[in-house]
Amino acid sequence: MQDNDFKNVLNSRIAETERILKANLPEENKYSKTVRDAMEYSLTAGGKRLRPLFMQAAYELFSCGDNVTIGYELSAFMSAIEYIHTYSLVHDDLPAMDNDEYRRGRLTTWKVYGDGMGVLAGDALLNYAFEMTSKAALRAIENKDPDMAERCIRASMVLSDKAGIYGMIGGQCADICAEGKGSNVSKEELLFIHEHKTGCLIEAALMVGGILGGAGKEDVDKLEKIGSDIGMAFQIRDDILDVIGNTEELGKKVGSDEANQKTTYVTLNGLENSQKEVERVSYEALTLLDELPGDKAFLNSLTKMLIGRTK
Ligand code: IPE
Ligand code: IPE
Ligand code: MG
Ligand code: MG
Ligand code: MG
Repeated sequence: MQDNDFKNVLNSRIAETERILKANLPEENKYSKTVRDAMEYSLTAGGKRLRPLFMQAAYELFSCGDNVTIGYELSAFMSAIEYIHTYSLVHDDLPAMDNDEYRRGRLTTWKVYGDGMGVLAGDALLNYAFEMTSKAALRAIENKDPDMAERCIRASMVLSDKAGIYGMIGGQCADICAEGKGSNVSKEELLFIHEHKTGCLIEAALMVGGILGGAGKEDVDKLEKIGSDIGMAFQIRDDILDVIGNTEELGKKVGSDEANQKTTYVTLNGLENSQKEVERVSYEALTLLDELPGDKAFLNSLTKMLIGRTK
């Protein structure tokens, strides 16, 4: 895909995703307004929207080429994964976790609404995500589309698995437990942290897209491996940017890892080797991607763009 074509497609997809994310937010209620505001605040602050973009792109590999309109189910799952990702960030920033004050170019949710609302807004985003995916399955049953209902249930199971104790939460647990351990964190432990806290939601994005699009088990397994590689590259690059990044561009403060005595890919392997690993695993993902059907141009360009991302 030509650079300009990719950027145009990327921008129009981000705009469409933003529209969907806002439209799918829950209704307001007088007495729970504060938490609803906090959800919206954290969600509409911006963000790269990578997980819904990956999901849509994987869906397209198995449906009918590019520019497929986003239907009810895909819209529900694209929103759900971004809500879950956003909740993970809201909680990650809390004083009890990374204690960060800036995110997505604004004050963090807890800084504006207080710790309690930060906890609740995260919980609400997580719950609401699965309310949406359950609704999508139920709607398919009511529409007498058992095939789509099954896809929604399978996709929901993948999402809960990858977001939970076997996935992102497991990784965040290991991340906290490793704080202050310096070089006593083994390579195996660090890989577990990166694979889980970050890789799992990217795996879920691709797998859910594939499942909703009708991919078979073998291809869903490949999507999982591709997501794992992209996720590893993504988190190593995040560790690099925490050292060499620009706060304004990143929208979050650099130096957070050092302040929290985190062991990262950079502290264990140095900047240069870390970037080499970003490239190596990204190209491993691209090789695997070649084995999948459909037009892979967008996914290919997106994966390459992330190798040298600055935000
Ligand atoms: C940040 O994720 C947390 C990590 C998993 C490294 P993103 O870099 O995708 O954050 P947003 O969504 O663009 O803000
Ligand atoms: C967080 O990793 C991954 C999550 C599951 C939120 P980091 O703690 O490194 O993410 P940032 O740097 O705060 O975005
Ligand atoms: Mg963290
Ligand atoms: Mg953090
Ligand atoms: Mg980080």
